[in-house]
Amino acid sequence: MSALRIGIIGSGGIATRRAHSFAALPECRIAAIAARNPETGPALAEAHGSDLTTD
Ligand SMILES: NC(=O)c1ccc[n+]([C@@H]2O[C@H](COP(=O)([O-])OP(=O)(O)OC[C@H]3O[C@@H](n4cnc5c(N)ncnc54)[C@H](OP(=O)(O)O)[C@@H]3O)[C@@H](O)[C@H]2O)c1
Repeated sequence: MSALRIGIIGSGGIATRRAHSFAALPECRIAAIAARNPETGPALAEAHGSDLTTD
């Protein structure tokens, strides 16, 4: 089965926990992060090798 590609909106506490939980599943990868925060957004996207949009 191909990977389930997850998109996360936000990069706060809950968004970060959800991203890590999904990424821990073998069939999931975090494909994209949409976040306005200039510190936590890029950090979360980098942690998962995800695309990032600030819009
Ligand atoms: N932390 C917990 O254990 C917990 C438990 C139960 C309920 N909650 C509730 O869950 C909510 C989120 O908690 P959190 O810990 O993730 O808060 P947080 O760390 O302060 O993060 C806030 C989140 O909301 C997003 N956000 C805020 N204003 C926005 C807007 N105008 N447009 C789009 N996105 C916006 C932020 O996105 P950006 O990254 O783009 O800034 C960020 O992802 C809160 O209401 C909190 O009370 C939290």
